[in-house]
This record gives sequence, C-alpha cells and structure tokens, in this order.
Amino acid sequence: MEIVIVPDAAAGGELIASAMAELVTRKPDALLGVATGSTPLPIYQALAAKVRGGALDVSRARVCQLDEYVGLPTGHPESYRSVVLREVIEPLGLTEASFFGPDGAAEDVAAEAIAYDHALAAAGGVDLQLLGIGTDGHIGFNEPCSSLASRTRIKTLTQQTRVDNARFFDSLDEVPHHVITQGIGTILEARHLVLLATGEAKADAVAATVEGPLSALVPASALQLHPHATVVVDEAAASGLKLADYFRATYAAKPAWQSI
Ligand code: PGA
Repeated sequence: MEIVIVPDAAAGGELIASAMAELVTRKPDALLGVATGSTPLPIYQALAAKVRGGALDVSRARVCQLDEYVGLPTGHPESYRSVVLREVIEPLGLTEASFFGPDGAAEDVAAEAIAYDHALAAAGGVDLQLLGIGTDGHIGFNEPCSSLASRTRIKTLTQQTRVDNARFFDSLDEVPHHVITQGIGTILEARHLVLLATGEAKADAVAATVEGPLSALVPASALQLHPHATVVVDEAAASGLKLADYFRATYAAKPAWQSI
C-alpha cells in the first residue's frame, strides 16, 4: 500500500483530484467509482474546479456508485444516487447518461445487487475506485466481518454506522437499516483503489487498516491484498500510525511509477 500523509483534507482532495485528472487525460472514458459521505467532497470540489478552469475535459468519463441505501423512495435527497448527482455529476457538467448505480428502491434487491455487480464488469471494470472508511473500518458498506471475497449484495448496517450517518437525516429513525454495497471482492477488482480518511475519529480505523493484520473485522484491511492501493490521510487521521515517519520519507522519495 502507498500511504500519503497530507496536511489537511483540502490537500488530500487536491492530490486525489490530480490523480483522477491524470487518469481521465490518459483514458478519457475511464470508469470512476465514487464514494459518498463527507470525506470525498474536497476531491469533487477540486475536480470541478479543474473542469471549470478548462484544465480538464471529463466529458467522456463514466461514473459509478459504491453503495446505496435500500428503501428510500426514488429521488430521496439522501439516496446516494441523488448525492452523487448533486456533488459529482452536475458540478462536473456530466449527464445522468454517464452515471450508473444500483437501484435501492428495486422490488428484488438481491437481484438488483447481482445485476449491478455484472454491470460493473460489463462496463469494463472500475479504473479508479474512491473509498472512505467508517469508524468501524468499513469500506463501501461492508461492515465488520464481511467476507473479504464478497460480491455486491444487500447488507445490514451496524448501529454505529447508522449513528454516524444520522447527521444527513432528520432523525436516527430515518436512517435505513439496509444497503446495497459493492462487495469487498468486487472493490478489489478496481484497477486502482484510493482511500481518503480525514480527522481524528478515523485514526484507529486507519491504523488497523494499514498496520494491523488482514482481518474481516476491519474490512478496509483488504486493501493490503490489492496491488495498487493508495491511502491518503491527513495528520489527524494519521495520528495512530507507528510508521508515519517512514511513510512520509517514502512518499517524499516516491519513484516515478507511482500514480499518486
Ligand atoms: P464519511 O463516511 O466520509 O462521511 O466519514 C465514510 C464512510 O462511511 O465510508
């Protein structure tokens, strides 16, 4: 894994946006897997600024979802489809035609999840998958003890995740209990995984992901299995890393083949 320690969230967003811009310049129809939550917003803002400034053309890029709540009505403002349309698709000047994800309001959720897994493969696979990390170590909505080989499927959220996400809803009761999430095995098929974590609350999960054992208890530790995984953390999220100085030195001397 490549660990990059940045001063703050804005610097992490800028760094990752630059890597995405480089990818899209090299491969204009790249499939970009986007994540929701608060953490990736600086990435999308930095990317949109490049597009607005004329430095980047993303018009042929494709965008796909990492996960989705189950049971919210179609068009609900906190459905992840709505969030991605608002935070990514519209600011980048893309249209809905370039964006796909699982339908959390589908009648047969299990079939929808399998169909989405197949749709990702049919689209040629994800070129770069953005990830956040839960305080419990989840990636996507793969909660602790998810199979490290799991495919896209329905999952039940932990109470911790529902509490963490209640800020987006009027009350905890409104946070769905179920989700469709790309499985860990599905996520690992993306060509490049980029996880951004910011803030003290993520320090323990980051340390367990990067320096702990590979464990289903910490789903993000599955990134240790990926040949091209980048973990970008601010100083606060890096505060639990024993090898922080080594990571700083390694990144400062990074070889040319590294993409971030
Ligand atoms: P957050 O969510 O960015 O809002 O902290 C991250 C996650 O749950 O994956």
